[in-house]
Amino acid sequence: MAVSDPILSIRGLAKTYRGGTRALDGVDLDIRRGEIFALLGPNGAGKTTLIGAVCGLVRPSAGSIHAFGLDLARDWRAARARIGLVPQELATDMFETVWRAVSYSQGLFGRRRDPERLEAILKALSLWDKKDAQIRALSGGMKRRVLIAKALAHEPDLLFLDEPTAGVDVELRKGMWEQIAALKQRGVTIILTTHYIEEAELMADRVGIIRGGRILMVDDKEAMMERLGTTEAVIDLAAPLAAMPAALGRFHLELSPDRTRLVYRGGTGAGGGRAEVARLTQALVQAGIAYVSLDIRDSSLEDIFVDLLGREEAA
Ligand SMILES: Nc1ncnc2c1ncn2[C@@H]1O[C@H](COP(=O)(O)OP(=O)(O)O)[C@@H](O)[C@H]1O
Ligand SMILES: [Mg+2]
Repeated sequence: MAVSDPILSIRGLAKTYRGGTRALDGVDLDIRRGEIFALLGPNGAGKTTLIGAVCGLVRPSAGSIHAFGLDLARDWRAARARIGLVPQELATDMFETVWRAVSYSQGLFGRRRDPERLEAILKALSLWDKKDAQIRALSGGMKRRVLIAKALAHEPDLLFLDEPTAGVDVELRKGMWEQIAALKQRGVTIILTTHYIEEAELMADRVGIIRGGRILMVDDKEAMMERLGTTEAVIDLAAPLAAMPAALGRFHLELSPDRTRLVYRGGTGAGGGRAEVARLTQALVQAGIAYVSLDIRDSSLEDIFVDLLGREEAA
């Protein structure tokens, strides 16, 4: 899907690793300025390879990448200087101190050393009191925050976070989300990969689903929910129904074999979903059908994901 004035534009990107694994198979993707984009896909989908191609760690087999209007094949250094990467794997010198590691990253792309800025970054990430500690002495969550500090040190306009919260405990994960949201506030465009659907659902403006090196779908998070989401309502009746009353015929309803439970399923979009369930309960009252409980649930992005991948499998 084309986006006007994208900050990142990828066309026909392919990568076949030595050995023959086709990790990317013709990826087209535009990223909007200022958005949080979640690239969602199972292990082996090609997420890290895609990021590696943009960050110069993976040499593409085919295709083009433009960032900030610059062709990465030609103006790699100028573009790369404005891109931050928080890698999936901890690939940093464990014997280095936090301060030196982050300071090194700041200078990596030709930016002047700015200790005040580094201090601000480390304080924001609650790492200031660890600045003289060796990285190997830090907890897993802190190590990951060091990676974020390194990625922020050169003030990127575009930041990649590859599985930022994988293996991070729930509390720290929340802190991470807050930090990512704060970066967006500061105008940084963020692309994160995750296989936690919860994370995409919470954080992202748009979601792209990738599998087998192909982007299956890209959409605004809400639109994706709307398009693919469903509302399910389970209504337990006060007494078994002899048959489905005609008055309920217009609703997508199933009656359980023991005739004591109605299950509604419909899209979350206009004319469906919770509004439809409200109409259904009115119709039940009008038809004199008493119910003892009503349980409504909207499908999560996770359900959508499973559903979409399932359909792919069947295709
Ligand atoms: N350096 C490499 N050499 C060979 N195959 C690789 C290499 N890196 C990744 N792959 C393969 O490419 C595919 C995509 O991997 P990756 O991009 O890491 O996926 P993801 O990040 O979505 O889990 C996988 O099948 C993986 O095994
Ligand atoms: Mg990966």
